[in-house]
Amino acid sequence: MKFFADTAEIADIKELAATGLLDGVTTNPSLIAKSGRDFMEVTREICAIVDGPVSAEVVALDHEGMMREAEVLRKLADNVCIKVPLTIDGLKTCKALTGDGTMVNVTLCFSANQALLAAKAGASFISPFIGRHDDNGFDGMDLIRDIRLIYDNYNFQTEILAASIRHGVHVLECARIGADVMTAPPAVIKGLFKHVLTDKGIEGFLADWAKTGQTI
Ligand code: G3P
Repeated sequence: MKFFADTAEIADIKELAATGLLDGVTTNPSLIAKSGRDFMEVTREICAIVDGPVSAEVVALDHEGMMREAEVLRKLADNVCIKVPLTIDGLKTCKALTGDGTMVNVTLCFSANQALLAAKAGASFISPFIGRHDDNGFDGMDLIRDIRLIYDNYNFQTEILAASIRHGVHVLECARIGADVMTAPPAVIKGLFKHVLTDKGIEGFLADWAKTGQTI
């Protein structure tokens, strides 16, 4: 499973990229607002740090407007992935852009039928929002499971990019089901490295090593 960071914070992206385990980045208008940075400038910077896809979201609601914005965004770097909402205009834009060889991430997916439409529109990625699904009394993992089944039934190449990930159990479940990618806030990704018994084990080994008086 590929790991994307869901953030526009450069310091966090650099730290995760340095582990060699970061496969891409996703941003959205809320994350850009949170960063307080200029959209174009920060997107260009992120694209230079990671080799993989960097999702940058359009804000126009109509097809022509989306195409216009996508044109600006895709000039920022070769690894820009245009993020469009799951609407009729969004999917029309998806079809046009992917037909042209541009990566597209279709976002705000809350049903398996929407994911089916995105795949038919040639989306590179579909972003089902797990956490927000859970928040509203549905099981976000059922959504991932249904999309996996449908995409496998028809051999769709669209990658399932599990989004709105809130904790490690979401990551684990996505891996069990076979999501292609998961995007999570840096704190969630960093949390995956941690285990209290790992810390305790290191502490014990170092204490015993000190008793030997040796060095490596
Ligand atoms: O990038 C979209 C998605 O990951 C948002 O997550 O936590 O705002 O629901 P969240």
